[in-house]
Amino acid sequence: MNDFTFQSPTRFVFGRGVTDRVGAELAAAGHARALVVYGQGSVVRTGTLGRVTASLEAAGVAYAELAGARPNPEVTLVREGVRRARELGADVILAVGGGSVIDTAKAISLGVPHDGDVWELFAKRARPVAEGKPAVASVLTIPAAGSEASDSCVISNDELCLKRGLSSELNRPELAFMDPELTFTLPAYQTAAGVTDMIAHILERFFSAAGPVPVTDHIACGLIRTLIEETPRVLERPDDYDARANIMWVGTLAHNGIAGVGRNAQPASRAGGWESHGLEHELSAHDPKITHGAGLAVVMPAWLRYVSDGEAATERLLALGREVFGIEPVDAETDGVDVAPEEAVRDAALATVDALQDFFVSIGMPRTLGELGVTADDVPALLATLEQNKGSEFGEIRRLTMDDARRIYESAL
Ligand code: NZQ
Ligand code: ZN
Repeated sequence: MNDFTFQSPTRFVFGRGVTDRVGAELAAAGHARALVVYGQGSVVRTGTLGRVTASLEAAGVAYAELAGARPNPEVTLVREGVRRARELGADVILAVGGGSVIDTAKAISLGVPHDGDVWELFAKRARPVAEGKPAVASVLTIPAAGSEASDSCVISNDELCLKRGLSSELNRPELAFMDPELTFTLPAYQTAAGVTDMIAHILERFFSAAGPVPVTDHIACGLIRTLIEETPRVLERPDDYDARANIMWVGTLAHNGIAGVGRNAQPASRAGGWESHGLEHELSAHDPKITHGAGLAVVMPAWLRYVSDGEAATERLLALGREVFGIEPVDAETDGVDVAPEEAVRDAALATVDALQDFFVSIGMPRTLGELGVTADDVPALLATLEQNKGSEFGEIRRLTMDDARRIYESAL
């Protein structure tokens, strides 16, 4: 197990009805002025926004609203939010929504004390500062990105065709309100994309080059098994509270860092090479209509298959196959088949990738890039911005060049 530092400082307020306690909790935490950020209307239609603002009023927390964060959120609204937060003197940015809304809130919070355009922080031309930065809180309406507790924030810039992540401990939200009943209204596709994103957050860390770390690996596999068990239940019955609640909490644990403890290369770094996310972010940067989780459902198996013959990846695939899917290499002697041990191992590794991909497809996710509207003609543009974001090589379990990335995209067409 490698040395690590880990903190998850967010206070989680979890359960039925916590939506009505937002104002009281914010006031108790010393907040008096909130900029309430939300998306494209679901929280208005479901009544969630009204419950939140009523609780703010009851608790004497002043607020202003900022609507319109879109999936794969864009920097223009962040700029507007920075202006509004300064005007209001906001001491907390309160996101009511999913990862896109929370990331918009995080970026606004980072932008408030920054002297200059907020994009400079994402372009890594300036560093975020703590002083004068409002806190971030969220009322989570879709379990997926894990942004309610993560150290990261991902923002798109349509003009530059870029989608950029910014990881910093300053991004850890102070409070997360997690009411599983709010997720009953999620469309099946968003539920499934969210689950896929969670599995990706776990596997990016699992497929780091650290070798076995049993405590973390069992947590990781347990989280994935929970998703495999609970997701069909909510697709069948969207108001299954316990299944929704379990999925919601997995979303947090998948990305607050606990699923990578001891697998990180440097004590303060995040575990893993984040290859699937690197490959996916180019898809949703070029076409913001592509849902992050759906893109991952396609590129993650393609990447795993591509690297599956390496020694380190093989060890990881066998561990995942055994613990999550019950896949073991066949044994020529006991199973009475004529297969060389290396071939049996290779078959088990590939069968594990197949099982993972079949699970994604079984919950309604795409198998190919074609289903997302991406064609061979799009690949050069994806590679150009991938190189801007990642440099000429990236990844950990196996370093990937831009030529490798091209082959991975092409294998998924
Ligand atoms: O905009 P509204 O109308 O609210 O609709 C949303 C949106 O269309 C809808 N929705 C949310 N809650 C709902 C609901 N519909 C009905 N009932 C509800 N209860 O769902 C759609 C998707 O919402 P979004 O916030 O985009 O989903 P998600 O949480 O998957 O966030 C995706 C974004 O997070 C980024 C992704 O790249 C993407 O931009 N990520 C952020 C991370 C982080 N900050 O740690 C890590 C992730 O790897 C990811 O990259
Ligand atoms: Zn993700």
